[in-house]
Amino acid sequence: MKSLSPITTKSWKNLKKHYLKIKDVHLRDLFQNDLNRFKKFSLHFEDIILFDYSKNRLTSKTMFHLLNLAKEFNLKESIVSMFQGKKINFTENKSVLHIALRSFDKKNIILNKKNIFLEIKNVLKKIKLFSNAVINKKWKGYTGNSITDVVNIGIGGSDLGPLMVTEALKPYKNHLNVHYISNLDGTHVTEILKKIDMRTTIFLISSKTFTTQETITNATTIKKLFLNQKKVLKSDMSKHFFAISMNQDEVLKFGISKENFFPIWDWVGGRYSVWSAVGLSIALSIGYKNFSLFLKGASSMDKHFLNTPLKKNIPVLLGLISIWYNNFFNSQTEAIFVYDQYMHKFSTYLQQVHMESNGKNIDRNKNIVSWQTGSILWGEPGSNGQHSFYQLLHQGTKLIPSDFIIPINTHNKINDHHIKLLSHFFAQTRSLAFGKSIKEVLKEHNFKKKLLQDKKKINDNINIYKLCNGNQPTNSFLLKKITPYTLGILIALYEHKVFTQGVIMNIFSFDQWGVELGKSVANNILNELKNKNLTKKYDSSTNSLINFYKLNKE
Ligand code: F6P
Repeated sequence: MKSLSPITTKSWKNLKKHYLKIKDVHLRDLFQNDLNRFKKFSLHFEDIILFDYSKNRLTSKTMFHLLNLAKEFNLKESIVSMFQGKKINFTENKSVLHIALRSFDKKNIILNKKNIFLEIKNVLKKIKLFSNAVINKKWKGYTGNSITDVVNIGIGGSDLGPLMVTEALKPYKNHLNVHYISNLDGTHVTEILKKIDMRTTIFLISSKTFTTQETITNATTIKKLFLNQKKVLKSDMSKHFFAISMNQDEVLKFGISKENFFPIWDWVGGRYSVWSAVGLSIALSIGYKNFSLFLKGASSMDKHFLNTPLKKNIPVLLGLISIWYNNFFNSQTEAIFVYDQYMHKFSTYLQQVHMESNGKNIDRNKNIVSWQTGSILWGEPGSNGQHSFYQLLHQGTKLIPSDFIIPINTHNKINDHHIKLLSHFFAQTRSLAFGKSIKEVLKEHNFKKKLLQDKKKINDNINIYKLCNGNQPTNSFLLKKITPYTLGILIALYEHKVFTQGVIMNIFSFDQWGVELGKSVANNILNELKNKNLTKKYDSSTNSLINFYKLNKE
C-alpha cells in the first residue's frame, strides 16, 4: 500500500485552493446553475439502490481533484492488494480477507499455502447444518425439549454486527428468540436471564481471542448458573454451549467440545466478522438461506468495489466525499440516519467499523499525522432524530454531513405511515440543503423587494430566528426494500468506504492498538479495588475516585 503524506500531494494542494473558492457557495446556487445536477451526481447499484450525492457542497471540479487524490494514492492497487490477501494489516502482519467470507464464486483463495476457501466452506456447512437442526427442532436440550432461545455472548465485533443484522432482518425471523449479552455490567446478563429458560436455550460464546474479559465473565456466570441447575450434568453443556473463536485451546479449557466449536480466523478483523461464524446467531434467527443471501449481497458490492472505475465506484465516492468535509471543511462528525425502525442499530454498528478502523494518529510512515483522520460517526433512526437533534442540523453552527437511508417499500404496510415517513425523508434533505432564505420569507409575507436593502426593516418585519441557512450536505440512499441481500450490500458499501478513507488518510485501518491500554489499566485497578486499604498509587483524581468508592460501597 502506497504511503505518502496526503497534504504533500498535488491533489491535496489543488483541493485546498479549490476549497477557498467553493466554501461559501450555496447548494441553492449549485442547483439553480445546473439543472442536470442530480443526473451528474447520482448512481444506481443494480436495480436496488439509488445513490444521490448531488446535495453535497461540491462540483465536478471537486470530484476531479478528489479522484486524482485517490489515484495519487494508487487506491485501485490497494483494493486489489486487499482482495489478493496481501498483509495490509501491517502492524499485526495479517491479511484482511473478510471479503473471502462471502466470495462464493472463488474456488480457491490461497493464504499462507492453505486454501482458505475450503475452510470457509466447511464452516458455512457447519453453520447450515447446525442452524437447520435447531430451527427444525431436531436439536434437543438436556431435558429432551427443542430449543426456543439463543443467547449470543460477545462484545464489539462479536456482538454489534449480529445484533444489528438480526434486528434489521426481524421480518425474516423464525420462532427462535435471539438475545445478546455484551456489557460487563451484571444487569445485562441478569435482565436477559429473566427472559429465557436455560433448559431450552443455547449459548453462543463469541470471541475471536476468547480472552475478552466482558465476554468470558458473562459466559462464566451463565455456565455456573447452568451447571447449578438440578439434575444437570457437565456433559449437558454439549447440548447448550457453543463457541465461535480463533482460540481453540481456550475454548476447550472453558469446557466446550471441538464439535461445538465454530472457528474464525486472524485474517478477519472483529469489526468485519459478521460474515463469519460470528454471524451464527443471524443464521439461527433468519435461516441459512437468508444468511447466504446476506453474504451474496456483500459479495455483489465487493465486485463493484473491485471492478468499477473510481468515478462510478460508490464506496470510493462516499469515502472521498467524507474526506472532503472532514479534511477541508473541518467537519468533526458525520451522521447516518436510517428511516427504518428495524435498522435502529445500524449507526451504532458502523461506529465500530468507522472509528475503530480510522481513529488513528500515526501514519503508515510511523509519523504523527498532521491532518484529520477518522471522524466521529453517529446517528439515530428517522423520523425520531427530527424531534431530538435536527434543530442543530438546521440552525446550529456545525457542518454535519449526513447519509439518509430509506427503503422505498416497507415490511409493514400499516395505514399511511410509510408515505408520511418518505415525505419526511425527502423534506429533510431538501430543507437541510436549501433552508429558507430571507428572500423566500419576504416573498411569503408579500414584502416588497425594496425592503431587502433595509436590514433594520427586515429585522423589524420578520422573525430572523425562523430563518434556516441550509447548505447542510447530505447523501441519499433509496433502497427497494431492506432484505438480507440489500443489507449485505449496504454493510459492505460502508466497509469499503472506510477502507477508501484509510488508504487516503495514510493510516492502518485494520489494527486497534488503542483499545489495549484501557484493558491493561483496568486489570491493574481491579486488584487495587479488591485491596481494603486506601489507594495512593495513582494520580489524585483516580485515587480519590477509588477511595470514595471504597468508603461508600455497600
Ligand atoms: O474493542 C476491541 C476488540 O478487540 C474489538 O476489535 C473486537 O471486536 C472486540 O474487542 C471483541 O474481541 P473478541 O472477539 O476477541 O472478544
